[in-house]
Amino acid sequence: MADDQLNYHKKSGKMMITPGLLVLLLVCSFSAISTHGDEDPSIRTMEEFSGYPIHEPDSSIPSSVSSLYVDAQNLQKQIDELSSFSDTPAPSVTRVLYTEKDVLARRYVKNLMGLAGLSVREDAVGNIFGRWVGQEPELAAVATGSHIDAIPYSGKYDGVVGVLGAIEAINVLKRSGFKPRRSLEVILFTSEEPTRFGISCLGSRLLAGSDNLVKALRTTTDSQNISFLDAARSAGYAKYEDDLSSVFLSKGTYSAFIELHIEQGPILEEEGISVGIVTAIAAPASLKVEFEGNGGHAGAVLMPNRNDAGLAAAELALAVEKHVLESGSIDTVGTVGILELHPGAINSIPSRSHLEIDTRDINEERRNQVIEKFHQSAIRIAKTRGVRLSEFHIINQDPPATSAEEVIKAMETATRELNLTSKLMISRAYHDSLFMARLSSMGMIFIPCYKGYSHKPEEFASIQDMSNGVKVLALTLAKLSLL
Ligand code: GLV
Ligand code: MN
Ligand code: MN
Repeated sequence: MADDQLNYHKKSGKMMITPGLLVLLLVCSFSAISTHGDEDPSIRTMEEFSGYPIHEPDSSIPSSVSSLYVDAQNLQKQIDELSSFSDTPAPSVTRVLYTEKDVLARRYVKNLMGLAGLSVREDAVGNIFGRWVGQEPELAAVATGSHIDAIPYSGKYDGVVGVLGAIEAINVLKRSGFKPRRSLEVILFTSEEPTRFGISCLGSRLLAGSDNLVKALRTTTDSQNISFLDAARSAGYAKYEDDLSSVFLSKGTYSAFIELHIEQGPILEEEGISVGIVTAIAAPASLKVEFEGNGGHAGAVLMPNRNDAGLAAAELALAVEKHVLESGSIDTVGTVGILELHPGAINSIPSRSHLEIDTRDINEERRNQVIEKFHQSAIRIAKTRGVRLSEFHIINQDPPATSAEEVIKAMETATRELNLTSKLMISRAYHDSLFMARLSSMGMIFIPCYKGYSHKPEEFASIQDMSNGVKVLALTLAKLSLL
């Protein structure tokens, strides 16, 4: 999969809709629902939603837009309920791909999709799609969504806000009487987190079409030696196929994709800003490294006679920090999140060590240079310590993604019309949007989270911030569905 970046083509194509055609489309859409609007004043018109004035050039920010109703209490209740499907006690959440809790959580979300009137389908790896069919179903749909898997001992908002919030955004639009022109689709992506099989954004990576991943998944196993396909089958997926390329979507499937997510950083909260409009997602990479030595008795083998695989791992972990700090940019980060020693006994010299390294940067070239330095250090450490570097495997080495201009514009307009403050920002965390950008125009909406905490139980987003995010999402979806 390391060569995934070779297949990467950012889609930046602007939609070819002239102003005249746009007005025509809006007038048609408007007249289609205007009688409905006459009957019930609470029903919003296309004109109000679009923000593109049809009759009054000066009324592009209809006051009624700010009355979009988000049932935020109910959204919080759903987030709390979903968090109960966890393998660790509250307030932590642990929900790992294809476990019993993951299956129950998926059922919970499918039920909400059904209650929102969406038609639900699932693919062979368990990406779940809930579609609201638009007035012109043959057009490419506008999609939104995120993930609900949670790394060990994490919180209840990462990803979840973008799935349950997306369903609520659909409810907001439905309650208001809006009728989309393009279909709107909510997606729950399978395994954004790499916890079980070491592969991040597994579902969206496959949707975007990766032959290498399809091949790798035939032999991928988890730490218990359970194969990916067996695990998928135990959760009710991949029943009939070994060939997971059935999951791939073609480029015309969606005209745009927007993901709502907590910021996972402190900027919005610190600056008191309601919404972050993401312009780009940093380039992530992950690596697996193994050293092998002779091991032996912790008392009997004298220090000069040792080749300690554990110390080689420790030295490499420090080298990762050094290379990242020396990159010259604050944007380069590196983390050794997994470090395992074999046999793992206090009185045994480690004979094998296993490290997993996560490194990212907004600059892909600089990120790649740092990876090369990790490799050189691993070779040097193995040599000087007399251990064997038995594995240096780049699991993924993805390029960054940039948001599409028309999606940024729609998000900015929506935020302005809702009288919310906003800021353009980059995402240092990766998201399924990184891969959806390979299929369609992409954009992300960030909301503040407490102290920027994420991937830990203290993760928190306020009801008000979630409500703002859902409104911006709903209005952006509405706008994009009319384009
Ligand atoms: C996503 O969970 C990430 O690690 O950025
Ligand atoms: Mn996460
Ligand atoms: Mn996430």
